[in-house]
Amino acid sequence: MMAVAGAFFSTFGTLTLAQDEDAVSGRYPHEDGHVEGTLDGSTLRGTWEQRDTGKRGAVELMFDDQGNAFQGFWTFEGASEPRSRWDGTRLDLAPREAGGSPGSWNSSAGGPLLSGPLVGEVGEHDARIWVQAREPSELTLTVHGPGGVVARETVTPRWDEWLCATIAVSSLSPGTDYDYELQGPAGITPAFHFRTAPPETARTAKIPFGSCFWDWPNPALSIFDAISEEEGDLLVLLGDSCYFDACDIPTEHTMMLAQLRNRNNAAFRKLVATTPTVAVWDDHDFGPNDTDARFEGKHRAFSTFKRVWANRTYGTADAPGVFSRLRSGPVDIFLLDSRSYRGLEGNNLLGAAQLDWLLRELRASTAPVKLVASPSQVLPSYPVAKGWDCFHRDGPAELEALLSAIERHDVRGVVFVSGDLHMANLMHLPGRPLGGGGRGPDFWELTASPLANDPWREAAGGDPTLLREVIDMTNYGVVDVDLDRAGAEVQFLLKDASGATIFEQPIPLEDLRAR
Ligand SMILES: [Fe+2]
Repeated sequence: MMAVAGAFFSTFGTLTLAQDEDAVSGRYPHEDGHVEGTLDGSTLRGTWEQRDTGKRGAVELMFDDQGNAFQGFWTFEGASEPRSRWDGTRLDLAPREAGGSPGSWNSSAGGPLLSGPLVGEVGEHDARIWVQAREPSELTLTVHGPGGVVARETVTPRWDEWLCATIAVSSLSPGTDYDYELQGPAGITPAFHFRTAPPETARTAKIPFGSCFWDWPNPALSIFDAISEEEGDLLVLLGDSCYFDACDIPTEHTMMLAQLRNRNNAAFRKLVATTPTVAVWDDHDFGPNDTDARFEGKHRAFSTFKRVWANRTYGTADAPGVFSRLRSGPVDIFLLDSRSYRGLEGNNLLGAAQLDWLLRELRASTAPVKLVASPSQVLPSYPVAKGWDCFHRDGPAELEALLSAIERHDVRGVVFVSGDLHMANLMHLPGRPLGGGGRGPDFWELTASPLANDPWREAAGGDPTLLREVIDMTNYGVVDVDLDRAGAEVQFLLKDASGATIFEQPIPLEDLRAR
């Protein structure tokens, strides 16, 4: 018998259901509403009555496999049409004893996992594998190298963590391919593979990136297959990796269900089971559209985010957030958090603590290429007139502090990537004059968006930094680094959903320094 008791965020307010075998009764606040019905499989059929007004009629609610959400209809008494929608999402994770499930849409039907695996951040010597287990029992990750088993780690995922766990393995070798599988009481997964980060001395690195993944019910998102075929060293997701709707925001459970439904998309699942992936958030996987750090749900959004991704670190001890620095061969990557501190210090996007961290880490980096990965656009100013999020609108002083620090301290090899826009842009800001007759480094930025959402189709209409724009198709970006490719040590590529190159931009490392 499916368990449907509990509270649901629904079209007519919170619907609270009680269940006795197949008999279900419920209350909702709209006009003192009551529901009575019978559960048949996963469908509840019955009547509704609003006692304040005497209105009544029929209701039919279809639950998902986990009993975590329903989609349904209601009609007035005596009328079979028109039917109107009545949808709902469970507000809290139901206890296991009560038949609850931490799974979301499209959870795996069999085997030891409900969701995953996802290869998270990898280092030269370690890797992090994320899973959502099927049950709160021991789960063992086994990693095979060229000469046999090199690591075995066992964890016991917890119900109050939605059975999610990130399993870290160490003692691995740089730039090396490994196979892995997971085993629990419900069986063993197929073998997947991953590659550890290239050594710092490596001359090449390939870093695909993208943003804005809305179309989770579509199993045929070829763009994720194309990214998979890149065999990148690291995939960087720049936010809106899921979209919170109003019904996804009320609680940590509803946020988890939203994150997991994207995770369980067939094409995405295949990609992240083998390509090391790190993520930051933008507005939609943080809270409501264009929201800032005053959002009341930011703490549950943060717990949710850390539970479903497997970055190594999240902010600093003094300033929690989704920002971090990681290394992939010749590239240091600086992931920025565009939401945790936005709007708290007046017109700011990063916040003082994150900006200090960024400037300090950029100066400390010895990597030949320093990739600053920002959800919000960095260099263009045209979005200001459009009313769109960007550094020029939301953190102009922070932007100037960042660019002038790079110039003043001659921080070499900095390039920017960004997302958010639902269109692709290539920006170039030639080296600005410095005191004493010299000039600063050129600044380059590639914005890639959307991965799987509707293109916005609105031309920029002119911007001094804008070289190219693609406004009518889904896309992803690639930062391709080859220190031995003279004059094009860094290459930006924009690719379409089939993996075909839309444009490419070579960038000489020589231009990325004060001159
Ligand atoms: Fe988006």
